[in-house]
Amino acid sequence: MTALSVSTSAAASLRVDAVVVGVAKGDKGPVPASGAETVAEAFDGRLAEILGALGATGAEGEAVKVPAPAGMKASVVLAVGVGEAAEDGTYDLEALRRAAGVAARTLAGSGKAALALPTGTPEAVEAVALGGLLGAYSFTEYRTGDSGKAPVGELIVVTGRKGQKGAKAAAERATVLAEEMNRTRDLVNTPPNDLTPKAFAAIAQAAGKEHGLKVEVLDEKALAKGSYGGILGVGRGSANPPRLVKVAYTHPKARASLAFIGKGITYDSGGISLKPAGHNETMKCDMSGAAAVLSAVVAAARLGVEVNVTGWLALAENMPSGGATRPGDVLRMYGGKTVEVLNTDAEGRLVLADAIVRAGEEQPDAIVDVATLTGAMVMALGTRVFGIMAGEDGFRDRVFDAAGRAGEQAWPMPLPADLRKGLDSSVADLANMGERMGGGLVAGVFLKEFVAEGIAWAHLDIAGPAFQEGAPYGYTPKGGTGSAVRTLVQLAEDAAAGTLL
Ligand code: BES
Ligand code: MN
Ligand code: ZN
Repeated sequence: MTALSVSTSAAASLRVDAVVVGVAKGDKGPVPASGAETVAEAFDGRLAEILGALGATGAEGEAVKVPAPAGMKASVVLAVGVGEAAEDGTYDLEALRRAAGVAARTLAGSGKAALALPTGTPEAVEAVALGGLLGAYSFTEYRTGDSGKAPVGELIVVTGRKGQKGAKAAAERATVLAEEMNRTRDLVNTPPNDLTPKAFAAIAQAAGKEHGLKVEVLDEKALAKGSYGGILGVGRGSANPPRLVKVAYTHPKARASLAFIGKGITYDSGGISLKPAGHNETMKCDMSGAAAVLSAVVAAARLGVEVNVTGWLALAENMPSGGATRPGDVLRMYGGKTVEVLNTDAEGRLVLADAIVRAGEEQPDAIVDVATLTGAMVMALGTRVFGIMAGEDGFRDRVFDAAGRAGEQAWPMPLPADLRKGLDSSVADLANMGERMGGGLVAGVFLKEFVAEGIAWAHLDIAGPAFQEGAPYGYTPKGGTGSAVRTLVQLAEDAAAGTLL
């Protein structure tokens, strides 16, 4: 990954290839944002005028390159839009993350760049560092020969005296978050012929070993012995057998315990209820929840959060074959409940149900599952916002609040009790498909059936934001995005602080 450091030197005097400054929307056109002072001076005060003449307005997403003046050691000044300053002169943290991300993407191919963006607070330092590191991400594992411009080699976050206090810690936190989000992105982007359930489990084992976590893997034999009917039922159509992985982080001072559960369908063809062409090209992304959970547990460990977190990765490949589960089959789930499979493409809830029951046996204070669960949630909230459902509104709202503080776009969704009736089955305890309308909520109502009494539970449907199909923007690349990692880490921190439960 791109190297990151912090510096209190004057931006204009840094020996780098490019200096990045912010350009804000002013009353009378674009103005250099705070952090750009020494660079603006090097332009003899003409930077605003030059940027205006080049068409800059300060809007988010803008990137304008200007040759650096003679007084600077850098050859290029890159001005990126940071939007409008608030009354107190600060900028929206997400605007800073995105601006830094745009800068890092624009500077691909260059060696060393200084980010002289507004960094008046440790939060702003973290935002700039995180946006920069996330924007510098690239996935070239599967390219041979010339794979295009390499990511910018080194980023230096410039902090004035004001931002200096706590800057180092902020940059360190940003580094952990970026590395773990990028771990998720790598997992999501890895094609499904290579990232099988077995391969994913091996990666989790290696990551656990590196960061002092306890990892247990149930293979198909152990799953059969344990009667995990949901995970086995989904995985049985595939030549790549399923796994359930437990990744445990414990802290000696922990006063709360969380279970994170991730949907880990390494490829979702739909099974016998096969998806039509046009709907399966990106379905390697269906393990995004499990990837986010693994990354979040590792991040909690690296940050030393004072809480116990157990991650559960429910890994299976959903394929059609002579051995596959059929629409009409009844599965006996872990814990004994029976489910009539009416649509084999509603597989995520089946693997999650087993994991939710299993996680509940350990009596955590809360369970949070993360899943690319329904196309309906994408219809409802679009591709940049994930849905939050929960057993109880108060808990849902605290999770929503955590997502916002973590810098992720989410929205609270209801779980109407009326939707349960649609899941009635004529032969089993319930069916895996209900009413078509409100399909995202129906899936949530299904999962709720498997949560043990007395455990707080929330469900994040990240089907929209987990995978970016369109052009990159801000710090979000094409492909895997790292959705939900920051929210899960924030939840761990909130639980440690005693404000979540
Ligand atoms: N993995 C899909 C959901 C999905 C859709 C993820 C788009 C990412 C982008 C899930 O397994 C699925 O197929 N859900 C069905 C459920 C239906 C059959 C009840 C859906 O949403 O159509
Ligand atoms: Mn499916
Ligand atoms: Zn799926």
